[in-house]
Amino acid sequence: MRPLGLICFLAAIATGVAQNDVSDASASFTLRSWNEAFALANATVAQLKLDEKIGLVTGVGQFSSRCVGNVNPVARLGIPGFCLNDGPAGVRPTKGVTGFPPGIAAAATFSRRLMRARGVALGEEFRGKGINMHLGPALDLMRNPKAGRGWESFGPDPYLTGEAAFETITGIQSVGVMACAKHYIANNQEHWRYGLIAEVDDRTMHEMYHYPFLRAIEANVSSVMCAYNQFNGTSSCHNAALIGPNGLLRKDGFQGYIVSDWGATHDSAADNANAGLDMEMPGDYILIGGGTFNSFLGLGSLRSDVNSGKVPSSRLDQMVTRVLAPWYRLGQDSGYPPVNFDAQHSDGSGPNNLDVSVRSVAHTALAREIAANSAVLLKNEADALPLKSAGMSGKRVAIIGKDALMLNLNCGDSNECDDGTMTIGWGSGSNSLEFTVPPITALNETLEAAGAVVTTSLSNDKTAGAKAAKGQDVAIVLVNAMSGELGFYQSVNGNQGDRNDLELWFAGSDLVKAVAAVCSNTIVVVHSIGPVNMPWSTNENVTAIMFAGAPGEQTGPALVDVLFGAVNPSGRLPYSIADDEKSYGTTIVTDPGFPLGFPVINYTERLLLDHRYMDVHAITPRFEYGFGLSYTTFEYTGLSITSSATNSQVVSFTVKNTGAVAGTEKPQLYLGYPPSAGEPPKVLRGFDEVQLAPGASQRVVMTLESREMSVWDTPSQSFIRPPGAFTVFVGASSRDIRLTGTF
Ligand SMILES: *[C@@H]1O[C@H](CO)[C@@H](O)[C@H](O)[C@H]1NC(C)=O
Ligand SMILES: *[C@@H]1O[C@H](CO)[C@@H](O)[C@H](O)[C@H]1NC(C)=O
Ligand SMILES: *[C@@H]1O[C@H](CO)[C@@H](O)[C@H](O)[C@H]1NC(C)=O
Ligand SMILES: *[C@@H]1O[C@H](CO)[C@@H](O)[C@H](O)[C@H]1NC(C)=O
Ligand SMILES: *[C@@H]1O[C@H](CO)[C@@H](O)[C@H](O)[C@H]1NC(C)=O
Ligand SMILES: *[C@@H]1O[C@H](CO)[C@@H](O)[C@H](O)[C@H]1NC(C)=O
Repeated sequence: MRPLGLICFLAAIATGVAQNDVSDASASFTLRSWNEAFALANATVAQLKLDEKIGLVTGVGQFSSRCVGNVNPVARLGIPGFCLNDGPAGVRPTKGVTGFPPGIAAAATFSRRLMRARGVALGEEFRGKGINMHLGPALDLMRNPKAGRGWESFGPDPYLTGEAAFETITGIQSVGVMACAKHYIANNQEHWRYGLIAEVDDRTMHEMYHYPFLRAIEANVSSVMCAYNQFNGTSSCHNAALIGPNGLLRKDGFQGYIVSDWGATHDSAADNANAGLDMEMPGDYILIGGGTFNSFLGLGSLRSDVNSGKVPSSRLDQMVTRVLAPWYRLGQDSGYPPVNFDAQHSDGSGPNNLDVSVRSVAHTALAREIAANSAVLLKNEADALPLKSAGMSGKRVAIIGKDALMLNLNCGDSNECDDGTMTIGWGSGSNSLEFTVPPITALNETLEAAGAVVTTSLSNDKTAGAKAAKGQDVAIVLVNAMSGELGFYQSVNGNQGDRNDLELWFAGSDLVKAVAAVCSNTIVVVHSIGPVNMPWSTNENVTAIMFAGAPGEQTGPALVDVLFGAVNPSGRLPYSIADDEKSYGTTIVTDPGFPLGFPVINYTERLLLDHRYMDVHAITPRFEYGFGLSYTTFEYTGLSITSSATNSQVVSFTVKNTGAVAGTEKPQLYLGYPPSAGEPPKVLRGFDEVQLAPGASQRVVMTLESREMSVWDTPSQSFIRPPGAFTVFVGASSRDIRLTGTF
């Protein structure tokens, strides 16, 4: 599939990056067991004075923090003021860092390898900047496709999110950086997030929303962040059923510390500390935005509460021990780099901003690889793709749409400026896009070098777009949609956080239609943080659709990689794309309700998110969960299911590349439970990444462990395997099932 010249040529595309290659190479440290770490923490706590203990569990205040959050140091014992920093997709807001693709892009790769590699690279950059804790990964399920922060996490499926959690955390912590699983829990929309009351039944809680956190605990995550919202009527950060000694996290063996989201301590210091909160951030924060409450007391009054006995001193000791244990466990007590940036002075003006670059050639290449491997080819008629540079000489190609353009990088964190390409959503989950290689640069460079005649219309003006497209051999139209975190910007393109609707932004659908009306070879590129309505997808003139998602800074080179076939697309949709929001079975609640001032949101859909809801309600999505095309084809044969001695089932099958070019298949295993179990018809329980040369085949093995064949049983508070026959569905998506068996 790869003409040699093309590869060499593509590798030469400018990535736009001055490579400093000064990332911390000495990330070697001695990993301790929890037991060893707690023994050290205990010994240290015994030497601390009351104010030192309180300082370690309390932020220094938003405007005194050098990082997004800092605790108070204990210099006499060599304990630094831990630096906690955003966020899930890279260090922000600062310079000299890589703008990695966000969680939803990692999910779309359906590749544990890339999820892990992304975690390692993130960890290396956080370590290089001297940051003790990476405030991620975000594990909030995309309960509704409009949810503002859905792209920070890994989509609506708890299994994929759980696997991504495990790989990401393992990667980050492998270089000695603490990871923080967030936001616990049911933090699934931006409207009214500071106080909405999520009502989630026990089984749904365990199988859906808690499950990724269970996988985080199994990865030995250092910290969990409690959310702004209330759960079952009590604020998450003072909800003992969640964070207390007998709460869900501790019952599952969580050993690290529970930190509040910034300002999520809605109750008194004693309430929070006694409920199970271990660290308050950022220390002095009063939330008044978004028409919500609230001022709070936080842990600032902890000293008097400990002195008066409202908070037992043994509880304070436990809080400090839990904060110190992950620090010892990951060897941060020895040789950890000092903080060498200043998030408060991201413009470079700050006295402490040393601007140490932690970028590297390898990280830039990885950002590009993840972006290319997360691009989902949704349609490809008449071999419209890949574009063949060999045959491109003299061809007339139009590039249309403002999503092709460079972002204005000078207006803040990243994408709040809506006048260029969409690489990532906005808010604390964004990253510092010091470098972006926009589609126009990479496409134009590639096409020009191949001898094509390039015409552009780099706005969303329909008339201009159609004019540019008319008479062209190919029209490439780029369109987008985005969302972000409430409270960062009043509104972006009229959207406050959660999206207002599932339409493309800036009348993108109208632009596609106008171009397709005049050009019979229209290739659409969609950059989006989640599903969008695509009524035009069946238009015969739309020959190909590349759903390039949220690709991060290497957006242009990665797009060229897949459009020209240097990378054979293997991204798979981590959500379904249906025709309207109703098809997803959930809503974003925008009405605060009465008389509480915050809505009660009852998770009545229970286990039925996304394709699970569509499967039950016989809704055919336009493109289903797990779907994605390749430039080659794959055949599945030889399903075998055997029981193992350890109560697991071993599922194996053969995947063969039956096409003419090399490619990567992402086989998926969906489990059908016995009817008595009350599970959705198909539940994702396995996926793999299989790279195959033309004609090659490989045996794929997926093991179903006991818990993966179980349902949450409320009376016994445990996972129990229901009796009866199970069906194994193996296929290329949630609906493209190639092999079926039972056990
Ligand atoms: C978690 O830590 C425990 C004890 O410190 C260790 O035995 C276990 O292997 C770790 N798990 C992972 C996935 O690293
Ligand atoms: C640390 O101290 C606590 C509280 O006294 C105790 O329960 C725990 O066993 C100690 N851990 C270790 C490893 O010494
Ligand atoms: C939340 O409330 C539901 C319904 O009352 C109950 O089933 C569930 O156990 C509660 N969960 C927690 C963690 O308190
Ligand atoms: C495309 O590349 C050519 C040749 O380098 C250059 O003249 C032209 O300005 C570029 N067009 C755009 C839109 O960048
Ligand atoms: C497809 O494009 C051709 C121009 O090449 C145009 O004549 C035709 O009407 C278009 N078809 C549709 C369905 O828009
Ligand atoms: C939530 O909905 C379920 C199912 O309709 C119902 O049984 C439950 O009582 C509701 N909970 C609340 C708090 O309204």
